[in-house]
Amino acid sequence: MQQISRRLASIAAAKEVRSGMRIGLGSGRAVAAVIDEIGRRIADEGLAIEAVAASPKAARAARAAGMAMLPPWDIPELDLGLDGADLLTEELNLIKGGGGALVRERLVALACRRWVVLAEAEKLRLDLAGAPLPVAVLAFGHEATARRLRGLGLDVALRRDASGRPRRSDDGLLFYDCRDRLARTPSEIAAALAALPGVVDTGLFLAMAQSAYIGSPDGVRRIDA
Ligand code: A5P
Repeated sequence: MQQISRRLASIAAAKEVRSGMRIGLGSGRAVAAVIDEIGRRIADEGLAIEAVAASPKAARAARAAGMAMLPPWDIPELDLGLDGADLLTEELNLIKGGGGALVRERLVALACRRWVVLAEAEKLRLDLAGAPLPVAVLAFGHEATARRLRGLGLDVALRRDASGRPRRSDDGLLFYDCRDRLARTPSEIAAALAALPGVVDTGLFLAMAQSAYIGSPDGVRRIDA
């Protein structure tokens, strides 16, 4: 079901891509689906696309799909960004980072003149309370950072891999998946976390997306900011 929803959303989102564009790609399953779809258009229509991707896996898939990959150390201005989300609202506020690439995803998103999200309809909610908020932290001193997170009124869980080891991002960061005990707004939480030493970034992507393609087995709905 989710696969059909993602596929339909990816077909709609990929229609925004034009030959000659420089695009930014996030990471995760929705991004993998849109890369496949852009690849199909490259093969059928001969589009010329340059791309930057937020994860090595997405970069490999984009290259295999026929995109020319830009060097990742200097992200130029990009025409269009395409990314997934863990949760989103009608106002296009998002939680991202379930896949662990949120810091790079924000850097890519900020370089895009237009940034659009694609997601399955189950992820569209009235608010962002339904999923833990990923917080990316420096490994150095991370337990002290976790104590400060708790001091801010958050319940925190260090993200671990299947063998129980702390899961690291491609940049060596760790993640605390957090739940707010104080029922604050996303902007209040974002502001509190931005001021915390050791915190590199959070999964709150507020008022950044211009549009979202929401896929369900019945079709695709586009939401514009
Ligand atoms: C990766 O860090 C995330 O921000 C993903 O975009 C998000 O977790 C959605 O992933 P899926 O498209 O795999 O559900």
